[in-house]
Amino acid sequence: MVDSNSLQKIVVFGTGGTIAGQSALRNDNIGYVAAQVSIQTLSGDIAGLAAHVLGYELVFEQVAQVDSKDMNEAVWCDLAHRTAHALARPDVQGVVITHGTDTIEETAYFLHSVISATKPVVLTCAMRPATSLNSDGPQNMLDALSVVMDPQANGVGAVVVCAGAVHAAALVQKIHPYRVDAFSSGEAGPLGWVEEGRVRWSGLSMPSARPLWDVSALPISGVWPQVEIVMNHAGATGAVVQALVQAGVQGLVTAGTGNGTLSQPLTDALLQAMVHGVQVLRSTRCPLGQVVAAPQMAPDSSHDKTIPVAQGLSPVKARVALQLSLMGLPPQV
Ligand code: SIN
Repeated sequence: MVDSNSLQKIVVFGTGGTIAGQSALRNDNIGYVAAQVSIQTLSGDIAGLAAHVLGYELVFEQVAQVDSKDMNEAVWCDLAHRTAHALARPDVQGVVITHGTDTIEETAYFLHSVISATKPVVLTCAMRPATSLNSDGPQNMLDALSVVMDPQANGVGAVVVCAGAVHAAALVQKIHPYRVDAFSSGEAGPLGWVEEGRVRWSGLSMPSARPLWDVSALPISGVWPQVEIVMNHAGATGAVVQALVQAGVQGLVTAGTGNGTLSQPLTDALLQAMVHGVQVLRSTRCPLGQVVAAPQMAPDSSHDKTIPVAQGLSPVKARVALQLSLMGLPPQV
């Protein structure tokens, strides 16, 4: 008889989402309630799961049970501490996290910024609820486990696995509100694909330099600096920025038009906010590419170009990066 304590473990954290959703009708893929089924029940219903992870023991923990539109910093802190704790154990191979699709890219980027990449942290999800006639959750879960068991997954940092693709935390974006294949890594493409339990890596090398903050310094309270996102659009005024500054906001990320451009009234309000100590980062609302910074001393630099650029991050990820930086956490050693 195999002593389960001697097996290498994969820790599976449940946080809710559509993957744990339930609907009254099996053919209803939108009128469901997310975050209903426990991670144990969810996994227990997956045909072939035990054979898929032969030689490993799965350890389940329900960290939260939320629709990820309501994901928050308190859950993130709990998740980061539990993930770091699990990965520090020599008998743990890696971690799988089930999550709603709506903010999975933010949670993945947050974990990527506080967990060092020596063991895999694989987030997965579903676009159809657990009760669906044709739920995508079970296959996504098996694929996520395949990635954790793959030796090459050590070192890639946090990834999102969905619809057979492995996406890097820094690049992944949800790009479709309904389709099962809802994610894209943009121009770079995915890190790899999962095919019949095997991972085919694309060979894409990830930029190694990234801020890595000390997870142990994250506040348990979940109270983080307030950072809001402001979008530029035709007719954009500075009113939202002025109201946020009055409300005590500490950071602002702009989802600018095109190359991160901002209307003149919005630019003026943001420069004024910076004078009051608010930190501002400039990103773009374009789904592909990134803001191309103007050369430092370019004679035609307009005022909006004096606002620092968000280093290729989408607005939602730049917001997480700015929050972490404003917290003044020590870097991970
Ligand atoms: C959620 O993000 O929790 C709901 C939507 C989904 O998971 O697809």
